[in-house]
Amino acid sequence: MEITVVGTGYVGLVTGVCFAEVGYNVTCFDIDEQKISTLSTGICPIYEPGLEEMLKKNLDEGRLHFTSDSKAACTKAEFIFIAVGTPEDEDGSANLDYLEAAVADIGANLTKDAVVVIKSTVPVGTNERIGQMLQDIIPGNIHVKVVSNPEFLREGSGILDTFHADRIVIGTDDLEAGREVAQLFEPFGRPIIQTDIRSAELIKYASNAFLATKISFINEVANLCEYTGANIEDVAKGMGMDERIGSQFLKAGIGYGGSCFPKDTKALEKLTEYYNYDFKILRSVIEVNSRQKQQLFLKAKKMLGSLRGKRVAVLGLAFKPHTDDIREAPAIELITQLIEEQADISVYDPAAVGKVEELFGSRLYYADTVDLAIKGADVVFIMTEWPQITQYDLGRYPLLMREPLIFDGRNCYGLVEAELAGITYISIGRKAINVNRNLENSKTPALETELEETRIESAI
Ligand code: UDX
Repeated sequence: MEITVVGTGYVGLVTGVCFAEVGYNVTCFDIDEQKISTLSTGICPIYEPGLEEMLKKNLDEGRLHFTSDSKAACTKAEFIFIAVGTPEDEDGSANLDYLEAAVADIGANLTKDAVVVIKSTVPVGTNERIGQMLQDIIPGNIHVKVVSNPEFLREGSGILDTFHADRIVIGTDDLEAGREVAQLFEPFGRPIIQTDIRSAELIKYASNAFLATKISFINEVANLCEYTGANIEDVAKGMGMDERIGSQFLKAGIGYGGSCFPKDTKALEKLTEYYNYDFKILRSVIEVNSRQKQQLFLKAKKMLGSLRGKRVAVLGLAFKPHTDDIREAPAIELITQLIEEQADISVYDPAAVGKVEELFGSRLYYADTVDLAIKGADVVFIMTEWPQITQYDLGRYPLLMREPLIFDGRNCYGLVEAELAGITYISIGRKAINVNRNLENSKTPALETELEETRIESAI
């Protein structure tokens, strides 16, 4: 079986490598020649556990090929998977420029029948339009069928997710094409759901929006815990044990980030606007998340008055652990605010420092270890639950910091341990530990609302 994957971003590369791993002959195509030459030498340009090893193995065994020549990519292909990005446009809608360019390129180079499978996340109706576009470009004697096959893999566990997918969604209005694509996925041995093409497109957006809803919901409950004195970890555990609710995606924190949830929720909102439908829950999910990202910064301001000239350490920069991706990461928003405050900032992350340096340059001090980042700091913000941070010896905070004041956006430590370590510890949806400052006397700036003040005071 000859497969071509167009786009060697995160989804395309993982897809191509995994198809090669199950025995298919795979050609990965990208217009970025530099990237293709790097990949051809077995070097993986993205940080993804296990991917580089699998890539090298399949290159060596001759099943995996890389090219930036679209003609060569299309000549033999029986299945062409398109996995190019559909980034957020200025107005929040999905930008389809890369997808349309890829389709035009394929159409111009196809010399025989093929099944075109769209993995890119696209608004409902796009795949039908792509089918029409292709028919308009290709010669009449060539037949192309279009299938929607949305991707659900998570960054940092892409290979695991591909081999253990909960479901493989195959959406098409052409039964024969659906059967062929289903056969292609058989070696993975995962459940397959076949739908019409529009439903498949919506499954992707609805799934991401639902997961984002769970996160925003639990973050709201966490905020309520701070008013009421309940503990979010216990509340989430008690809720999650109900199988109808489920324990996953109930981890309260500093808000969701990454390349998917923020972009896809906004694109879905745009789609609802197009149909003049008011998807109220979705609007709130997005709003709650942007408010949640502010939580720790507001609490710190409430407590300290100003952060000007304070030595602040930010631990964890990536939007989640085991990735170097900083897109929409809460840490980036925090750092921007800290710079505005004229704080003296040091940062630590096991993987994402390079990308953060590209953004902020010499405005930050980049530490190689947690020890170096927190040395002499007045305040620490924890933004990503990397093991290097969750397993860090709490006793070192008072030892190394000027003032052991920790704002933890990921609830990395137990409250008892924090109390014993003698740190002032403010986390999400839990009691604040060792706070004995007089809030009345702090140089507190006006916060958004009176209600917000009440809650923060009860939390710290
Ligand atoms: C997500 C979806 O999980 C995946 O199916 C889809 O294809 C792409 O988007 P990803 O963005 O890689 O994957 O990360 P994920 O692990 O889902 O986490 C997204 C964000 O939610 C992170 O910022 C994470 O910290 C946050 N999160 C996740 C929470 O705050 N609480 C949780 O309980 C789970």
